[in-house]
Formats: sequence, structure tokens, C-alpha cells
Amino acid sequence: MSDGFSLSDALATGNNPNPSAPQPQGWPSWGNQPPAPGGFPGYPGPPGAYPGAPAAPGGYPGAPGGYPGAPGAYPGAPGAYPGAPGPYPGGPAGPGAYPGAPAGPSPQPIPGQPPSGPGFGTPTPHGGQAPPMKVPFEMPLQGGLVPRLLITITGVVNPNPNRFSLDFKRGNDVAFHFNPRFKEDNRKVIVCNSMFQNNWGKEERTAPRFPFEAGKPFKLQILCEMDHFKVAVDDAHLLQYNFREKKLNEVTRLCIAGDITLTSVTPTMI
Ligand code: GAL
Repeated sequence: MSDGFSLSDALATGNNPNPSAPQPQGWPSWGNQPPAPGGFPGYPGPPGAYPGAPAAPGGYPGAPGGYPGAPGAYPGAPGAYPGAPGPYPGGPAGPGAYPGAPAGPSPQPIPGQPPSGPGFGTPTPHGGQAPPMKVPFEMPLQGGLVPRLLITITGVVNPNPNRFSLDFKRGNDVAFHFNPRFKEDNRKVIVCNSMFQNNWGKEERTAPRFPFEAGKPFKLQILCEMDHFKVAVDDAHLLQYNFREKKLNEVTRLCIAGDITLTSVTPTMI
């Protein structure tokens, strides 16, 4: 794990011609950079913009299976969207996905793949209250991982937690295991690893801090880049995990388990 790269450094060319340009909306700036102007971090607002929809298989156009064209042809690719999209198909009428976001590039919802979970207390279309999302939770990632896929997870850490984990899975293999442990030998530690053919690899335990607290809400963001994941918590970069699994398009499931209550899981393209 390493730290200290800007998103624009890490993406595509690794060469940012305009380092002072605003960061893409929806992703925090890294530790050594000032926040982007214009109300950064541009988090789109509370979960609940999309009432009621459970995780649903969807697909990015251009993803393998269902759309002609190579992976990478999805319309959320940089520059492909002229502006903020409207609501999800079938979603509520309104000004768009991210009411609080300033004009300009913003996270792009993935067509056909609504976010999961309306959040607590959000009225459902039937007039009821949305139930909490079930944990363990599993979300299909149709077409697998692609660079610029951002997954935003909101939830609350349970009282007296032991551990929770995210697993990006390729079949039974785990491409990326992100595992905060609250009481390992009376210490808090974040363990990252991969599992191939039922064998865990070498653990990475270099996260510089432990941002989760018993009973507290959190926002956890995982950004898939060209050759690594970036993880941010509550709008601050936490760590980076280099890909060990290279077949990104076959990493088709996100599993979330452990001592948290989930409020939303929202994939977007940035
Ligand atoms: C093991 C643990 C697994 C996983 C793994 C990561 O000890 O049983 O759940 O967290 O470590 O290296």
C-alpha cells in the first residue's frame, strides 16, 4: 500500500497536465492536496435519492455480456457525458442524481444499475419505511470492475464490533479483501489481502489510521483505478491496494459482511 498520489496522477497517463485543476467530483482529494473548489467533496447528498430499489443486476453499456463493444466503452467514461445525467430510469422525477453537486463533472450513475438502499427512514413508494439492508450483503458488478468505478458505501458500525469486511470476488477468489478489525489483540487494525484458490496471500496492514468507531456512521468509498484500488473514509483518502488479481472484468461481486448496519451501496462512474 502506498499513499500520496492524486487521482489524476493515478488515472490513465499518470501525468496530470494541470495539477491545480479540480478533482473529479465524488472523490476526495488526497492527503497532501487542498480540497477542490466549489463545495468539495461534492458527495451527491444523502442516500435516499433513489427510493426503495434493492440491488439489481444491471450493466454498464459496453460491458461484456449484453452490449457490443469492448469494455471501456461505457458512457460514463471520462468526457463521454456532457453533463449530469437525469435520474435513474424509473427513478424519481427531479433535477438529477446529485442535487448538491456543482456544475461540471460529477459521478455518473451506471445506467441500469441503481444504487442499493434508500437509507433509514426514507419513505418507500408504498408509503412504508425502508428496512435496513441485510448484512451479509452481496451486489453483482455486472461486467466486473473497470477503472473509474466508484463504489460508495454508507452505514453505521454496530455497538461492540469485532470486524467487518468488503470482498471483491472473482468466483471464490477474493481480489480485494478490506477488513477493519476492532479488537485484534486489543488493537484496531485494517487488514487488506487477496485470496486465490482458498489461500490468503500476504496481508497489508499499513493503513495510517483507523477511521471507524463503534456506533458511528461512516462513508466508505472504493475507487477502482488502472492498477489499484483507492479507499477513502468520510471523504479522506485512507489507503491504496495494488491489484493482485488482473482479470478485473471477472471480479463480478461485492460482498459486505460483519458488524455493521448498511444504509446504502452505490456504484457510480466518475
Ligand atoms: C484470516 C481471516 C480471514 C481474512 C484473512 C485476511 O485470518 O480468517 O477472514 O480476514 O485473515 O488475511
